[in-house]
This record gives sequence, structure tokens and C-alpha cells, in this order.
Amino acid sequence: MYRSRPKGTLDDDTLQFLSSIEHDQSILYCDLIGSEAHSIMLHSMGHLTPNELKKILAALESARKNPEKIDTRGFEDIHEAIEAFVIKYAGVEAGGKMHTARSRNDQVVLDLRMKIRDDINDICAALADLLEGLLEKADETKQVPMPMYTHLQQGQIGTFSHFLLSYVSTLIRDMERLYLCYQRINQSPLGACAIGGSTIPIDRKETAVALGFDSIVRNSVDATSSRDVFLEYVAVLSIMSSSLGRIAEDFIIWSTTEFGYIELADRYSSTSSAMPQKKNPDPLELVRAKSASIAGNLVTMLGIVKALPSGYSRDMQDIKPEVLAASTRTLAVLKTMNGVVRSTQVNKKRMHQAAKSSYAVALDIAEQLVIKKKIPFRLAHRIVGNIVSVAVSKGDIPLADLRASDIAGEIKDLKLDPKDVEKIIKEMTPEKSLQLRRSVGSPHLSEQEEMIKMMSQVAQNYKVGIQKRIKMVQGSFDSLAKSVEKYMKSSR
Ligand code: ARG
Repeated sequence: MYRSRPKGTLDDDTLQFLSSIEHDQSILYCDLIGSEAHSIMLHSMGHLTPNELKKILAALESARKNPEKIDTRGFEDIHEAIEAFVIKYAGVEAGGKMHTARSRNDQVVLDLRMKIRDDINDICAALADLLEGLLEKADETKQVPMPMYTHLQQGQIGTFSHFLLSYVSTLIRDMERLYLCYQRINQSPLGACAIGGSTIPIDRKETAVALGFDSIVRNSVDATSSRDVFLEYVAVLSIMSSSLGRIAEDFIIWSTTEFGYIELADRYSSTSSAMPQKKNPDPLELVRAKSASIAGNLVTMLGIVKALPSGYSRDMQDIKPEVLAASTRTLAVLKTMNGVVRSTQVNKKRMHQAAKSSYAVALDIAEQLVIKKKIPFRLAHRIVGNIVSVAVSKGDIPLADLRASDIAGEIKDLKLDPKDVEKIIKEMTPEKSLQLRRSVGSPHLSEQEEMIKMMSQVAQNYKVGIQKRIKMVQGSFDSLAKSVEKYMKSSR
């Protein structure tokens, strides 16, 4: 339809190669709504008669109600197919005016901004659900001691809730990033036209308001050439999915028979075609894998924009499927994690047992020597390290099973009574260890309670903010729908 200078039709394979129709289905709705707002603006600026507007809107409404009526065969993209539909439906006298003061270059980026702002709201809502799930589980497990690991070796005693709250802290930062990113996405590029604006008087603010944007992207070159906001969006998703991959990995490890700290619900587990006993954490493994796919989306996008000249180039078309795939993958990952977190059984006994038999109280014991016996930490570190070696040489026995006589040899040069040291060791149960560690951000019960309270409030505030944003866009669409109805009813 656009072929004014090139004559005849495109080569069939080339048309196939150029076509973005497949991925354009996701922006079809945005394109129709965008075209309605643009047409109403053209009318209010005096470029369309009421009757022409009426005909165009009738065509767009018909397409909106029955999108399958839009014949996409032979077109390079949905913008062309929709315009062709409108011209066929409304006649070229009216329909041929819809593309006045507009280009596919501002149109495609308008559609993508509208689509991605919805995706951000959906993802933020799913993330808020996951935060709630984590916080609920944390509240149930704030008194469940378990070993904490560094290098995947037992380090200190913590609680299951402390891990869950660490995930919440990380994910709240992702929420903040997404929330900010929305502000930059929610600006209208419409009216930038091909690259340099239009000689035809238009009102960019009118279309921006009608479509629920907060403001416009002012510079017409920037509006049509820049894709940084989508890069930022996918970068944020990529960062978030790498954290979700870590959570998935923790859960995978803890669900092994060797750890047995948690048990995944059957409906979030797969099995083996050969080994009947198997209960595999496949959903979590795919969460882990998706962080690679989403990073892949980002890398592809960065590769495409790298060294592109200013102004639209067709390369940019290939950004669309990457952004869309990143959204779809992220939503699926969040829903899966939410389901897994809420349904996972926590084996409190097993965690407690592991904490009790662990040497992860060693640092606490050394600190007690520092506090009670006033010896330098470096010395306490050596004494306790040696005491642990004694316990290991006796067959990995718990430190609490050592007697004063086992300890005496390790402190013989010091003015320490082995009985006092034995007492300090015996008293250092996992519960005591947690009780004594009161530093801010530690797994101490009062810290857990404080963090749960604070983070629940933050999650709740975001939930409210997201709903406000969704309502604000919906409100603009409702008013637009009312205008459309009004113009379509008008008798002239
Ligand atoms: N299908 C194109 C895309 O997705 C639309 C813009 C085409 N513009 C152009 N000047 N060729 O990016």
C-alpha cells in the first residue's frame, strides 16, 4: 500500500523476511487505540470533517471488536494492514486521511510504549504477589533455626525467614527499578512523525493525554530513534531474573534428599520417565534457565542498537520480539516462583537438627571469649578453630559433646579455665546463638519482626501505586471510548 516510488509488489520471500506481522499481534490493540486518539486530534485541529472522523472511527471500532477481520496478508506490518482496512472500510476519501501528520516511525514506538507500560504494571503486580508470599512464609518461619552458608559450607546460624527476607529486600529493589522505568516509558512519541515533525498543525499534548501518557518525548529525533527505555526495561528484568535464579537455586539445593530442608508441592514438581522415585524441581530449574534467556534478550537488543545511526532504521523492528519475550518470560517466572514459595513445605525439624549438629556456632563462641574473657578476637579465632579440629578428630562430634579435658590442651598457654570455656561452648545452642546476635539486619527475632513489618508496608505501598497507575490508564481509555462514541453518534 505504501509503494509510491518502488513499483509493483515486493518479492514474496522478501515480504516474508520484512514482515513483523507475527509479533505485531501484541501491539494491535494499542495501534487501534492510538489511531483513534490521533484521528480525533486531527479532527479537533480541523484536518478531518466530522463525517470523515466518524467513518474512520467506525472502521477502527469494527477492527477493535473483530480484529480477525483485518486481512494481514501481503502487508509488511500491522500498521499498514490496519490503514488498509480503514481505507477499505471507510473509503479512501476519509480513510486515506488517517495517516496525516504521522509515520510508522512514531506509531510503532508509541504502540510499544503503550504495550510495555501495561507489561510493567502486570509484572509489578505479580512481583507484589510474590513479595507477599515470601513475607507470609517468613512470618511462619522466623523462629526456625537453620545453618547459613558461605561457599555452600555451613557458616553461621540463621533462620529460614532470614533468607526469605533477604529475597524480599533484593526484589524490592527490582520493584523500585521497574517503577522508575515506567515513568520514562510512559511518555508519548506520537507526533514526532517520520523524524522531524510536521508542517500540518497538530496537538501532541492532546494525543498524549488521550492515551494516558504523563508527558511527551519532546525532541522528534529522540522520540523516533531512541530505544533506551526498552533497553532499561529489559536490563531491569534481566537483573531481577538473575536474582530469581538465585532463589530458585537455593530452593533446589534445600529440596535435595541430602538437605531435606524443604519439600516442593507435588504440583510444582516433575518426575522421571525412567526412575519412579523421582520428584524433580523442574519448574525451579526453568526459572534458573530463564535468567539466561532474558539476559539473551537484552544482549540481542544492545547488539541491534549499537552504532545505529539516528533516525528510524528497520533494524529496530527486531527489538520488538525481544522486549515482548522478556516480558512474557518474566511474568511466567514470577508466577511460578509465587506458586512454589506459597506451596513449599518447610521441614522445621530437619533444619533445626542441622543447626544443632553444626559447627556454625564457632564464631559466636569465639565472640563470647572476646566478651567474657577479654581476649583478642584473633586469638579466640585460633582457639575455637583448634577446638573444632578436636571435635572433627573425635568423629565429627558436636562441640557441645566435648569435655573440659578435650579443650584443656588447646588453651594451655592461656590463663583460661577449661571449665569456663566448656560452659561457653555448651551454652551456645542455635537458639542462644540467634538470641545473642542482635546487630541490625541479623536473624534475631526482633530484627525479623521489624523487617517483616517494614517490608510488608513497602510491598503494600507499591501495590496501591500500581493499582493507581492501572486506573489512570484505564481512565484515559474510558474517556477516549466516550469521545469515540460521541463522534460516531454525531449526525453530521
Ligand atoms: N514494522 C516496523 C517496526 O516494527 C514499523 C516501522 C516501519 N517504518 C519504516 N520506516 N519502515 O519497526
